[in-house]
Amino acid sequence: MEGFFHALFFLIILLHVISTARCTAAAAAAAAAGIKQAASDRAALLSFKSLVDDAPFGALSSWNNGSLHYCRWRGVSCGRRHPNRATALDLKSLRLAGLISPSVANLTFIQTIDLSDNMLDGSIPEELGSLRRLRYLNLSVNSLSGTIPSSLGNCSNLRLLNLRGDNLNGEIPPTLSRLSDLQVLLLNQNMLQGTIPDSLGNLSSLLILSLDDNSLSGAMPPSFGSLLSLERLEILFTNLTGTIPPTLTNLSAMNTLALRRNNLHGEIPHFTKLPFLSYLDCGYNHLSGTIPISLGRLSSLEYLLLGMNN
Ligand SMILES: *[C@@H]1O[C@H](CO)[C@@H](O)[C@H](O)[C@H]1NC(C)=O
Ligand SMILES: *[C@@H]1O[C@H](CO)[C@@H](O)[C@H](O)[C@H]1NC(C)=O
Ligand SMILES: *[C@@H]1O[C@H](CO)[C@@H](O)[C@H](O)[C@H]1NC(C)=O
Ligand SMILES: *[C@@H]1O[C@H](CO)[C@@H](O)[C@H](O)[C@H]1NC(C)=O
Ligand SMILES: *[C@@H]1O[C@H](CO)[C@@H](O)[C@H](O)[C@H]1NC(C)=O
Ligand SMILES: *[C@@H]1O[C@H](CO)[C@@H](O)[C@H](O)[C@H]1NC(C)=O
Ligand SMILES: *[C@@H]1O[C@H](CO)[C@@H](O)[C@H](O)[C@H]1NC(C)=O
Repeated sequence: MEGFFHALFFLIILLHVISTARCTAAAAAAAAAGIKQAASDRAALLSFKSLVDDAPFGALSSWNNGSLHYCRWRGVSCGRRHPNRATALDLKSLRLAGLISPSVANLTFIQTIDLSDNMLDGSIPEELGSLRRLRYLNLSVNSLSGTIPSSLGNCSNLRLLNLRGDNLNGEIPPTLSRLSDLQVLLLNQNMLQGTIPDSLGNLSSLLILSLDDNSLSGAMPPSFGSLLSLERLEILFTNLTGTIPPTLTNLSAMNTLALRRNNLHGEIPHFTKLPFLSYLDCGYNHLSGTIPISLGRLSSLEYLLLGMNN
């Protein structure tokens, strides 16, 4: 009996030792992975820097400093729960030139990227599509060219995509319609071509959609009538054809509807169900018929332009 208890005791000790060793090994592996990820964040940031010229302001000079942790480099923020993982890259208006390195996509914890109002050129790396935590991407007012990567439709947490004022061409990728949390989509002032994808009508969280100043063609998709949260729709100067879809009259949150300088024809719909509409601009089109008397009942209306039509 005593022998049995000895053996049992020994077994318990043995199991304990094994499980402790396992836990320690797991903890060590996790720590090693953490260090590896942190090292890769640092490498990714240095790779970003290597393709950027910060000459005028030396905006990235703190990025050279061996004694400064990268979480304290200018424009870099790290997380609270994951203190060594970069969560934001905020480098707006620093006169940065050069290219956006695809290794930004190695910053897998990043939520915010603001590189707006710089002089960056080259294309938007399609690798950015792997950033699942990205919520805010502002690359506006640069000289980025090429097409909008369809992979951005994989950034499933994206709330804001601002690509205004670049030199982007090609078509609007229909994959953007997968961004179900997207609230702001600004693609204006580029050289985008082709028709507006019907699938954008799936962006049910969208508050602001701006596509003006592009070379789009075709008609406005009737699916826009499903954008029930939409407050601003701006599609000016784009040569859209067809009619104003009657489905727009259902967008009861609409505040601003700007369709100036297209080739729209047909009648102006009855916007009677838009209690918040304050800005309506349909000027410089080929609209015809009568001016709906219902417009007079829009109590919020402050700006109305219907001139230069038929
Ligand atoms: C980014 O990640 C890829 C794939 O894991 C790797 O091949 C590359 O070396 C990394 N780049 C940097 C700068 O860390
Ligand atoms: C590097 O960073 C440290 C700590 O912030 C600072 O004291 C030092 O002046 C910096 N050196 C350079 C060359 O920027
Ligand atoms: C994005 O960047 C532009 C240019 O710097 C700025 O005007 C805008 O406010 C930024 N934020 C959003 C939400 O678009
Ligand atoms: C991301 O998007 C691209 C293009 O839309 C697609 O080919 C790819 O399979 C998607 N998924 C991943 C994990 O990148
Ligand atoms: C998105 O829109 C397209 C075309 O309007 C439609 O066929 C498709 O079923 C929609 N997808 C989702 C996920 O709602
Ligand atoms: C719109 O069409 C007109 C006439 O076809 C053309 O001259 C103009 O460049 C076009 N504008 C855009 C933004 O594509
Ligand atoms: C507006 O919405 C109602 C209710 O959802 C729907 O029955 C109607 O067909 C819609 N009208 C238009 C013009 O889309």
